[in-house]
Amino acid sequence: MVARATGRVNLIGEHTDYSDLPVLPMAIEHSVFVAALGRDDGLIEVESAGFPGKATISRHEPRADEPWQRYIVGALAQVADIAPGRGAKLLVSSGLPATGGLSSSSALTMGVLAALLAAWGEPFDPAAIARRAIVGERHVGVESGGMDQTVIAFGRAGNALRIDFRPPSHELVPLPDGLAFVVASSGEEAPKGGSARDAYNERVVGARIAAAMIADQVGLDLDLPITLGQVSTVDVVDIIVDGLPEKVSPQEVAHGTEVDLQHLVQLTMANFDHMAKVPVKRVARHILSEAERVDEAQAALIAGDLRRFGKLLDESHNSLREDLRCSTPALDRVCAAMRRAGAYGARLTGAGFGGYALAACAPADVAVVIEAAIAATGGPAFEVHASNGLELL
Ligand code: GLA
Repeated sequence: MVARATGRVNLIGEHTDYSDLPVLPMAIEHSVFVAALGRDDGLIEVESAGFPGKATISRHEPRADEPWQRYIVGALAQVADIAPGRGAKLLVSSGLPATGGLSSSSALTMGVLAALLAAWGEPFDPAAIARRAIVGERHVGVESGGMDQTVIAFGRAGNALRIDFRPPSHELVPLPDGLAFVVASSGEEAPKGGSARDAYNERVVGARIAAAMIADQVGLDLDLPITLGQVSTVDVVDIIVDGLPEKVSPQEVAHGTEVDLQHLVQLTMANFDHMAKVPVKRVARHILSEAERVDEAQAALIAGDLRRFGKLLDESHNSLREDLRCSTPALDRVCAAMRRAGAYGARLTGAGFGGYALAACAPADVAVVIEAAIAATGGPAFEVHASNGLELL
């Protein structure tokens, strides 16, 4: 059994999914391939063409040393109830850079789950695989949302995918003619399981705090988990956000409101430091404005207004740099270089803190945009196309 799990590029809607606000990504042709051969000893033997280390992981007590293998451990915990006693030999081969931004980790998790379940004779169910992968991936310690796994499950060639989370739904958004996409490395690594983890989780907690403070001001009861999406339609929310503190600790908020501290600091793998002051106002301002840009970008794509679409990408990047603060000088530089080379717009894509940037441009400008990106950071930079998501080959 071989599963092919694609990477993804998020067109717009960055750092919104964990607040239950919409995103607009697409699956891309660069993929992770996972071959699985079932066996009956309850052991998972795993090896990769690109990543270091070979491991034999017991399904009873899944554990692994290499960072990439932790995604497999996380995936195994989510299928503990399925085909007990069965094991597999897994071979992984990745055509995706593992340096942040193109979702190599979700592709690995989704590919491993799809290949294992197929090898154990289970029906192919991308929605169920995505649900398990979302929970499994949090076991590396990042409180991520569900964008990556959902677009890997449901992406289609020629389309972006608008995803909403509350309630969960998704819809294909056909990409107009005359629009090409280039992705470009910043030259800085930002793997989710490593350096970017704490910075990312801080934004998640900041967003929860903002939601709790806004709800408190307007007398709204929040469902759990606490998300900014629940207060995004509150009257004059922008004005309320402007009055929030720059930084505040979860503990201070829990003291001043009815909110249970645990609901602010609880992460899948640990508790966030409840005394640490985290950015609140700017995080909320970015997330709420970014959600509006998703609607506008979707409308621009449907209208074929590529200049407007590009401008929204630029605005998203500025907001990520100034307010969410997850850009880096190298990401700013590569985006600026691609804009100067004629792109409609450019922004960091994925969690940021390094990793990859995205540019939208005319097909005729792809080569010059790639050249400009490589001149800015050393590359790699390449064109990507909206592709079909997860499949069994
Ligand atoms: C990472 C996470 C996603 C999403 C993005 C930022 O890729 O895995 O869930 O939060 O960052 O938009």
